[in-house]
Amino acid sequence: MDPASDPSSATLNREAPWDAFDSLAYSEHNYRTLRQDDRQIIEIVRDHFAAHFHGHRPGQPVTGVDVGAGANLYPALAMLPWCREITMFERSASNVAWLRRQVSGYEPNWDEFWALLLRGEGYAEVTDPRAELRGAASVRQGDLFQLPSRQWGMGTMFFVAESMSTSHLEFRKAVNSFAEALAPGSPFAAAFMENSEGYQVGDHWFPACAVTRHDVEATLAPYSEDMQIVRIAPPEGDAVREGYTGMIVACGRRGAV
Ligand SMILES: C[S@@+](CC[C@H](N)C(=O)[O-])C[C@H]1O[C@@H](n2cnc3c(N)ncnc32)[C@H](O)[C@@H]1O
Repeated sequence: MDPASDPSSATLNREAPWDAFDSLAYSEHNYRTLRQDDRQIIEIVRDHFAAHFHGHRPGQPVTGVDVGAGANLYPALAMLPWCREITMFERSASNVAWLRRQVSGYEPNWDEFWALLLRGEGYAEVTDPRAELRGAASVRQGDLFQLPSRQWGMGTMFFVAESMSTSHLEFRKAVNSFAEALAPGSPFAAAFMENSEGYQVGDHWFPACAVTRHDVEATLAPYSEDMQIVRIAPPEGDAVREGYTGMIVACGRRGAV
């Protein structure tokens, strides 16, 4: 049996069927409308980035990376005012194709996400987010365990390190790869499902490992300055799915180590 189709067995990252990830089903389920928990995450991340850049587009915009971008545009949109280039780094062939289509002109459901970002300082300086995303974003297929080090000036990684394997060792390695890909001083935001048991996307089951706020803090802290971690409870009666206990968002700045 394909180990990734058996929720009870251990699954390493390389064993899961990433190229068969159903991007449309995932995006439709998670991001067709703006959920309350994503709303909270976006506000935290938006304000963290805006504070880092003092609320105005920098004279010298940085390069950004969204690691494991999948079928989600809002981390890249949150980086848009601050970046001249955004790399959307993703392993799955189906998600790479989905990202390329969206970058060329994203669908109307993302307007609600942009409207929330617009309430943050600096975001209104982006007058045409579709055109700016098209100009700034490039979609790159690859394995996050092979990311180059100290390459980008800001970064996001949303629901990836804990949602790619049942192995806690791979969780820690993924967080390390993300942090090491950022130059010292880079602002970052990372989000995690808390205590995830894995997840179904279309016809396939994908692995996860159960992490808590403590795991996130212990793994990111050695790389971070001024890190803040917020736990977000599932909205009453509106959990995005079964088999998790909340979401965790960590914002900080890459330290010098
Ligand atoms: C749960 S999805 C999260 C997608 C998106 N970031 C979001 O916020 O919804 C996990 C993503 O990690 C990607 N992924 C899994 N293993 C990876 C690897 N080794 N390198 C890069 N991306 C990977 C998957 O293809 C998928 O897009």
